[in-house]
Amino acid sequence: MTSLNEADRQFALHPFTNLSGHQADGPFIIEKGDGVYVWDDQGNRLLEGMAGLWCTSLGFNEQRLIDAAAKQFAQLPYSHMFTHRSTPPAIELSKRLVEMAPEGIGKAFFVNSGSEAVDTAVKMAWYYNNALGRTAKKTIIARLRGYHGVTVAAGSLTGLPYAQDGFDLPAIPVMHVETPHHYRHAEQGESEEAYASRLAQSLDDQIMKAGADTIAAFIAEPVMGAGGVVIPPKTYFEKVQAVLKKHDILFIADEVICGFGRTGNTWGSDTYNIQPDIMTCAKQLSSAYLPIGAVLVSDHLYDTFQDYSDKLGVFGTGTTYGGHPVSAAVALETLNIYESDNIFSHVKARAPHFKERVQALQNHPLVGQARSVGLIGAIELVADKSTKEQYPAEQKMAAKVMAAARKRNLILRATPGDSVAFCPPLIINDDQIDEMFDAVADALNDVHSSL
Ligand SMILES: Cc1ncc(COP(=O)(O)O)c(C=O)c1O
Repeated sequence: MTSLNEADRQFALHPFTNLSGHQADGPFIIEKGDGVYVWDDQGNRLLEGMAGLWCTSLGFNEQRLIDAAAKQFAQLPYSHMFTHRSTPPAIELSKRLVEMAPEGIGKAFFVNSGSEAVDTAVKMAWYYNNALGRTAKKTIIARLRGYHGVTVAAGSLTGLPYAQDGFDLPAIPVMHVETPHHYRHAEQGESEEAYASRLAQSLDDQIMKAGADTIAAFIAEPVMGAGGVVIPPKTYFEKVQAVLKKHDILFIADEVICGFGRTGNTWGSDTYNIQPDIMTCAKQLSSAYLPIGAVLVSDHLYDTFQDYSDKLGVFGTGTTYGGHPVSAAVALETLNIYESDNIFSHVKARAPHFKERVQALQNHPLVGQARSVGLIGAIELVADKSTKEQYPAEQKMAAKVMAAARKRNLILRATPGDSVAFCPPLIINDDQIDEMFDAVADALNDVHSSL
């Protein structure tokens, strides 16, 4: 336990935080970590059921990542990638990412966060279409409840009011289409496949109405994360992709949460049969030990970029820290560990037990739907299971479950749609999965008995 002065705790302006509540309560301080656990400043050990912000895949004290960073710091603590410059870790990492990526992806462009990756993907979609003379193709289609970050373009695509209100977003041309949430939005008796067909038809109709010549790209998380862990209905992405192909609209797969094993395969795009033109990734790329993201670009886009940059003189985008050698070295070592320790197979092997424990929560009186894929899941809380009616928003039921879990030394996250999300480090074992869901069940009982 360290002793931080009470008054010193009020200088930081916290993201996604109620500022008055923070003024009253102060920060929740995490001081150290080990495996899937973290310790707060009161000495409590908590199971990190959200892997931080869906990102610390290898847990909180992976020595090989610490060593990789130290080694690179000693060798070369900074260089950049502007004007043809590179470093050995950036070169190796780009090769590894392209080799891991779905077929057709040929280049990796480095950034420092998921939001930057998404903003860059949008710029690339515009650059590509401008290069082809299709200068009216500007709108990006995103989904309600999708989360793509907070920078001006990414924040515009995010389909969650709490991340836009007060900030004059959206600030770029965006069309938000339906959330593909079968449990909540399918019609009575409608199969997942029929619901997916209806959504694809609706997408087609909306594109036709706006004019395909005004639409540059469609962006989607394979599984919506921050919007409440919304798992797509069967055949959804196949049908959506057919519509986009017909209208010559690019597919941007936002793999910032799903990438690197979260859904049981390397990419969420593998799990859901997506063939993206552009992919964004970050978070688990370095197990979040250092900030790094990447935009992965298909060959056919790159060829057009090359011609256009010849015409303009330069591919004119990039950031000071993009491809930072220490971040790149840590990311590279993260990918080495995924391979040497068979982390993605470990996720596949743990997923049935995880699913079983998530599904068991479905029997709880507060839970309307329990859902999961790989090592990500959620429960959706309802007041009435038969009508799926939710509690009034002011009751903040998901936040209550999150707070009750905290008291039981488990970190969870309340997400929109009164859903409580689960996303532990990928290294979690079966005993820890049991410990996690025993605590979830206890937290649900605590909240239920307090009603
Ligand atoms: C799918 C997705 N895209 C983009 C982002 C933004 O990433 P960052 O917070 O690193 O900017 C997030 C963050 O949670 C995300 O979940």
